[in-house]
Parts: sequence; structure tokens; C-alpha cells
Amino acid sequence: MTAFSSTRVFVACLLPDEAKAQFSERFDARFNAHGRTLTADELVADSAGAEALVVTATDRLDAATIARLPASVRLLATYSVGHEHIDTPAARERGLTVLYTPDVLSDACADTALLLMLGAARRVVESQALVRSGAWTGWTALQLLGRDVHGARLGILGMGRIGRAVAKRARGFDMVVHYHNRSRLSPEHEAGALYHPTLDTLLVESDFLCVACPSSPETRHLIDAARIARLPPGAIIVNIARGEVIDDQALIPALESGRIFAAGLDVFEGEPNIAPAYRTLPNVFSLPHIGSSTLETRVAMARLLAHGITAAFAGEPVPNRLA
Ligand code: DGY
Repeated sequence: MTAFSSTRVFVACLLPDEAKAQFSERFDARFNAHGRTLTADELVADSAGAEALVVTATDRLDAATIARLPASVRLLATYSVGHEHIDTPAARERGLTVLYTPDVLSDACADTALLLMLGAARRVVESQALVRSGAWTGWTALQLLGRDVHGARLGILGMGRIGRAVAKRARGFDMVVHYHNRSRLSPEHEAGALYHPTLDTLLVESDFLCVACPSSPETRHLIDAARIARLPPGAIIVNIARGEVIDDQALIPALESGRIFAAGLDVFEGEPNIAPAYRTLPNVFSLPHIGSSTLETRVAMARLLAHGITAAFAGEPVPNRLA
């Protein structure tokens, strides 16, 4: 039986019932009653009286919104591993504890990365369209030739928890894993992956490039025209991080020309208003930001935040703490 505390929690993001239960069984919890993402004004107003506020990546907690939060709010928890939507220094300055959800979604996101690689390489969009249209006239050795995933070189940009989970799966496909990261991993975490101190050398070796790095001002449009040009002709790009890391104006022409064989994209700059070409290009296998979207993962994310809130209000160490 979960211990109940009287901590007042306002959950501003929309959650499945199984995830909501992680809060309602432990706390004096209230939930978003609007059935949609709240505006900043609604977020501030609906947080009245709450001690902990649970948001997600679509809620923008900039310095101005943080400054307007009710004085009762002492803890901000984001139901996401990405936290670029929170001005963490402003939250820290205001004395807020900030929590996020690392680890528990790494496996689901890595599964999605493999789905994207396979779907992009094996021309799933065109294959589905052919079957569904009724225009398929039967097997030929010519139809819909894709690219091998097994045996290919995979370059992982950002070898955090998700990148490492992608590498683990890729090894199961006999891929040769290369990576670039701010710092080199320990041999245990590297597990045979080949480290590149620079992104530019990684790109040259990447038949597949998997973008798994955090979004920040430093990584915005990191994958630009010059870097795409360094990839081998016919390379495949997969993005499970944030759309902002890739410059659409560089990727789209490379996909149109076939210089880049295909892309598998779960995230987009400006989503949900994505570049129109991503809806029509046959060599783009796109998903609506479902990287971590499994029921089990959603519950685990809620459980992690609930544990963190309990620990923080009990004055105990909180492992998933940003501030
Ligand atoms: C995350 O957890 O960061 C997911 O991408 C949802 O935003």
C-alpha cells in the first residue's frame, strides 16, 4: 500500500489514468481539467495552493512564468527527460526543487530509434502505401529496394542513457557502433562503441546517424548542410532527440535529391506544425513524437516523479533532481 501524504500536487499535463493514479494514491492531487495543454495564465492560476507542480515538455516554464507561480509552489517536476522548456537557473533562483524523468524512458525511446532506422531503411512508408492502395501487383525482385541495417555503421550523436540503449540494440543487429559525446564514456559504458572526439569524424563513418543529444542553444541546427554533406552518400538520419537539432532547410533538399537515402523522424522543429515536406516525401518515415509512448513507460515516469516529490518533501536525497 502506497503511503499517503497531504502534499498538494497539481498535475498540469494530461496523463493516462494509470499514471494519474501514481499521484492520486500518494498525494492530495488535482489534475488538468481542460483536456488540453494549459496556457501560461491557466498554469499559474490552476497552480494556486499547490506545493508541487507537474508539467511536461509542452509547458513553457520561462523565467517570467516561474516568477508568476504562486508562492505555495516549492517543487516543479517535469514529466519528461527533456528539460529545455524550463528555465532551470530561474527556478533555482526562486528556490524551487526541479525534478525530471531520466532512465525510465530510455528503453522505450531506444526501441523507437530502432523502429525509425528499420522503417526508414526498409521503405516502410512506400510499402504501406503500396499495400493499402491496392496497386500492388505482386512480388518482383525490383520492388522497393531498401538498405541493410545489419552490418551497417551506426553513428550515435549523444551517448547518454538513451544513446547507450540504442547502441545496445544496434549491436543485436550486428551494427558497428560509433559515437560522439561531450566526453568519452568509461569502457563499461562504451561497450566496444568507437569514440569520436569530433562530430565531423563521426559523420564520415555513419551509414546511419542517430541524433540522441539534448536540445540546447549549442545543439540547435547542429546537423546543418555542411555536416549532412559529410555523411556517406545514401546515409540514413534518425532523430529521437528534438527537432531543433536538425536544420530542416538542409535535410529536406538532401532527402529530395536522394543524397540522404531516408530519414526516420520522431521529433520536429516547431511541432506539431512540421515542415510540409515531412508529410509528403516518400523517404521520410515520421512519427508524432511517440518515442516514450508506452503505457508501462508512462506509469514508470509518474512513479519516478511521485517518489521524487515524496523524497523532496521529506528532506531526503532525490536522484532525479535538476535543481
Ligand atoms: C521527453 O521525455 O523529453 C519526451 O520527448 C517528451 O517530451
